[in-house]
Amino acid sequence: MSTTPKSLYDQIGGEEAIGKLVDKFYDRVLDDPELEPFFQYTPMEKLRAMQMQFFAAALGGPENYSGQPIHYVHQGRGITSRHLTRFMGHLLVTIQDAHPNAKEVDEMIERISMYADSIIGGTPGDSE
Ligand code: HEM
Repeated sequence: MSTTPKSLYDQIGGEEAIGKLVDKFYDRVLDDPELEPFFQYTPMEKLRAMQMQFFAAALGGPENYSGQPIHYVHQGRGITSRHLTRFMGHLLVTIQDAHPNAKEVDEMIERISMYADSIIGGTPGDSE
C-alpha cells in the first residue's frame, strides 16, 4: 500500500498551526529592541497575514502568497546579517516550542533560510 507523503505544511498542522506560529514569532521579534524599530510603521496585521501565506508556500502548502517580492520589500531598510541572525533565532525558538520534533524543525528553518540572500543582499557594506 502506498501513501502520498504529506507536505511539511500538513505535517505541522496546516493553516491553524502556521497562524499560531506566526503570531508567537512576531511577538518575539517585536520584543527584541534591535528588531522592533524596523517594524515601527508596519501594519502588523497585514504583515502577519502575508507571512502566513509566505510560510505556507515555503513549507509546501497552498501557493497563494499575495505580498510583494521578498527582495523588493526588504531592500533599502538597512537590514544586516546581524539582524537576520536575530530574526532567524527568534524563528528557531518559536518553532522549537511549538514542534519538538527535531526533523521538522531543521527542515522548516532550512526552507525559510533559503531566502536569506534576498533579505540582506541589497544592504550595502554588510560583509559579516
Ligand atoms: C528569511 C527571512 C525573512 C522572510 C522570509 C521575510 C518575509 C517577509 C514577508 C513575506 C513580508 C510581507 C511582504 C508584504 O507585505 O508584501 C515581509 C515584510 C517585512 N519584513 Fe521581512 N522577512 C524576513 C526577514 C526580515 C528581517 C531580518 C527584517 C528586519 C529585521 C524584516 C523586516 C520586514 C519589514 C519591516 C516588513 C514590512 C514592510 C512594510 O512595512 O510593509 N524581514 N517580510
